[in-house]
Amino acid sequence: MGVKVMVLGSGGREHAIAWKMAQSVEVAEVYCVPGNPGTAEEIKVRNLALKPTDADQVVAAAHALDIALVVIGPEAPLVVGVGDALRRAGIPVFGPNAAGAMLEESKAYAKAFMERHGIPTASYGRFTDRGPALDYLRDHPLPVVVKADGLAAGKGVVVALEHAEAEAAVHRFLQWGPIVIEEFLEGEEASFIAIVVDGQVLPLAGSQDHKRLLDDDQGPNTGGMGAYSPTPILDTAMSERVLREVMRPAAQGLVTDRTPYCGFLYAGLMISTAGPKVLEFNCRLGDPETQPLMMRLRSDLYTLLLTAARGDLLPKALDWDSRTALCVVLAAAGYPEYPLTGDPILGLDTMHGNAVKVFHAGTATRDDTVITAGGRVLGVTALGDSLTIAQQRAYAAVANLHWPGLQYRQDIGHHGLRRS
Ligand code: AMP
Ligand code: GLY
Repeated sequence: MGVKVMVLGSGGREHAIAWKMAQSVEVAEVYCVPGNPGTAEEIKVRNLALKPTDADQVVAAAHALDIALVVIGPEAPLVVGVGDALRRAGIPVFGPNAAGAMLEESKAYAKAFMERHGIPTASYGRFTDRGPALDYLRDHPLPVVVKADGLAAGKGVVVALEHAEAEAAVHRFLQWGPIVIEEFLEGEEASFIAIVVDGQVLPLAGSQDHKRLLDDDQGPNTGGMGAYSPTPILDTAMSERVLREVMRPAAQGLVTDRTPYCGFLYAGLMISTAGPKVLEFNCRLGDPETQPLMMRLRSDLYTLLLTAARGDLLPKALDWDSRTALCVVLAAAGYPEYPLTGDPILGLDTMHGNAVKVFHAGTATRDDTVITAGGRVLGVTALGDSLTIAQQRAYAAVANLHWPGLQYRQDIGHHGLRRS
């Protein structure tokens, strides 16, 4: 028999979540809202052409289909309260309410939360007016980081090396609303994600994203050009420290603030010589970190997220494939500013075996052909006994895929390789 579940979203993250949910023996059908051509191809998975941010549509569909669990992938439905609406309707849901999603929605809210609960982060100021912001810039050393307060899909952060650049960012971001200016942190970035349910914290394996467009961490910031897990920077000792200094205080802070929370909590960290500091919180899984994480996860994702959605006792630990998984994002020409779309993707029918999985993100179909339809198009993910082997396997699979202007980084995993 089995139950029906629903996954909201259409990116590479959601393809990986749906693929993993479909592997549960408990699950008969996974409905992706709206999903993508990759999810449409998966066994037991089908797409539903609804808007994931339209709470009424989502609730009605979940009722009509007798959905046992809704998993909310991206931040947009969370911040508009789709989680709240599903809970009000009595439908089990994994993903926080809008109040919990404030940690991602507002940088200033997240900074104040961290300050209140003693969570290490860069020193900062919050500004709504030009004068005090420019005074702050004059009083602080370069480089300095200027951030728009609200969601900006990666476009609201400027790491300014020069005063003029910082001033320009202040002027630009203040037009949209409040801003945060913060101390520049040195170190290596890592992603630490946990399941947080009202004070309970269950960590996932560590991972590392590659935010910049070009090799050697050059070029503009993107949503993420590749990721791998595990990562040597989050070894056992550092992971314990992140749990102790960041994740448990955050979960406890939400309880203290009387903010119910059931979902993934993602800490974007800068690991410096002084230890971990939080760059940002997200109230969801990372994209592309999810792709390697789902390749490695052995625990039953449906059972796990249903346990969380019910507020029951979480398991002590999760079961992971000990191998490394590495995901290379294939992006469209012009990404991240003006991605070109509509090009047929060649090579999708190549056979890869069990150690490689091509997750779809910005794809669509036209006359039975899969075409590019967004900035980040595919996430080619491979497992290997070492980081080197996972990397070789992923790039060997990448070599089969083509469209005009395809761009990807050649060095995903480089921090880990340097350390190991
Ligand atoms: P955020 O959206 O806040 O995570 O910022 C996007 C990216 O900007 C991060 O992944 C970092 O690469 C960089 N960044 C943000 N804040 C800082 C900081 N305080 N110091 C250094 N780099 C930062
Ligand atoms: N990979 C970064 C993010 O999902 O925010």
